[in-house]
Amino acid sequence: MPGEPTTDAEVTFAVSSRSCRRVSKCCGREGGRPSLRPPPRLRITPRIMADSQGELLLLVPTTSYRLDDFRAAALRLGVPLVVGSDRCHKVEDFFGEEKDLLSLDYRQPARAAEQIADAARTRPIRGIVPASDPTAVIAALAAERLGLPHNPPAAARRAANKLAMREALRDAGVAVPAFRAFPLDSDPLTAASEVSFPCVLKPLILSASRGVIRADDPAGFVGAWRRIETLLRDTAPERRAREEGGAASILVESFVAGAELAVEGLLRGGRLEVLAVFDKPDPLDGPFFEETIYVTPSRHPAPLLARVEEVAAAGARALGLVEGPVHAELRLGADGPVVLEIAARSIGGLCSRTLRFGAGLSLEEVLVAHAMGRPLEALRREARASGVMMLPIPRRGVLHGVRGVEAARAVRGVEDVVVTVPEGREVVPLPEGDSYLGFLFARGEAPAAVEAALREAHRRLTFEIRPALPVA
Ligand SMILES: Nc1ncnc2c1ncn2[C@@H]1O[C@H](COP(=O)(O)OP(=O)(O)O)[C@@H](O)[C@H]1O
Ligand SMILES: [Mg+2]
Repeated sequence: MPGEPTTDAEVTFAVSSRSCRRVSKCCGREGGRPSLRPPPRLRITPRIMADSQGELLLLVPTTSYRLDDFRAAALRLGVPLVVGSDRCHKVEDFFGEEKDLLSLDYRQPARAAEQIADAARTRPIRGIVPASDPTAVIAALAAERLGLPHNPPAAARRAANKLAMREALRDAGVAVPAFRAFPLDSDPLTAASEVSFPCVLKPLILSASRGVIRADDPAGFVGAWRRIETLLRDTAPERRAREEGGAASILVESFVAGAELAVEGLLRGGRLEVLAVFDKPDPLDGPFFEETIYVTPSRHPAPLLARVEEVAAAGARALGLVEGPVHAELRLGADGPVVLEIAARSIGGLCSRTLRFGAGLSLEEVLVAHAMGRPLEALRREARASGVMMLPIPRRGVLHGVRGVEAARAVRGVEDVVVTVPEGREVVPLPEGDSYLGFLFARGEAPAAVEAALREAHRRLTFEIRPALPVA
């Protein structure tokens, strides 16, 4: 949409997000750089009056791709929104005491939950929505204290740690890759002699494919190990925000060949309602696993998809998750669906913009309504196919310009082109990188047409990325 923001709140966010950068990427995690374009303009008159049923607390990092869309959803539903984040001091200096911003210590989930409970003494917090894995733990702890429907904190913790997740799923008989964790200070060459190839090495606590590397032989294994070690060292401040011990190991898994799907769902009282199943039509064979295209509905046969849904539901159950959003990733292995990941949060980045339910509800509206205990009818996704392409970062450097945006937007079926990286900013590809260049969105009658539109739009875009000048 044209460049003017829809609400004062969005103007506010645009300022705050430039002031305090936090990492992030798309479908694995919550936060990220601010969108340069505001979200689609609301088509109905927002109800601004306060909802007597209370306020919703949204837990995000200071800058989140998601914040604008959640704000729009809350406004549209007439739910007053409080935004909890670990905003940096620069932003606090800028805003002073902001009434609807809650500054929380994300590094200590129990402390953050206490801060929320304190805030709830003077404000009517009636629902909490986390937008990331670590905030899902805080949300669970805080909701427990406030007596709101919630996931058991232990379940949210399991979902936020790849090793704990693997163990819980395996113990419950849910199909997962064979895995083994090694202490980060062990000898990688010895570790390499104890695993089979091909395998995938990954840190326990990062997301969005950061540090996820395939190795086909011992030399590749050692190289991947060293790279993850460096990445974990370089992201120390982020790591501090996660569960203790989570950064001390490397997880090694068997590589599961096969098509990958993502399941977006909502747990209500322990029952998983599947909201959408996405195909990821680009092969994800490594050595790095950059996500690109997501298209829904899936083109796999219905019986297989029914099985995928069953396995995702069994996985959520095995983790102990019972309430709120779920984002699961599965591969279609030789013996059926294998769970790669089940997160207690919704799809990340701007990818939720692919989804519309019922009479046009956004995913954020569904989540806000659910958290506030509003009645939600059967959540049927629109009939049309829909897709997103996360624009990959081809190489490290500084973004100097983007060409072809109008040409990309002119492709039939393309609904929006959103470049999220400002010119002049350094961009870093996987496995170290933490963001995308932006997002393409398309809708159409059939998934194949949506995929083709996304590919054509991407072909029309040129990103001018020049090497960063060395800083003395
Ligand atoms: N064991 C595996 N076999 C095959 N591919 C894998 C495996 N583990 C991870 N991947 C690939 O890497 C991607 C990211 O891994 P994942 O464990 O989901 O980490 P993240 O939390 O960073 O998304 C997956 O979506 C998948 O494409
Ligand atoms: Mg993942």
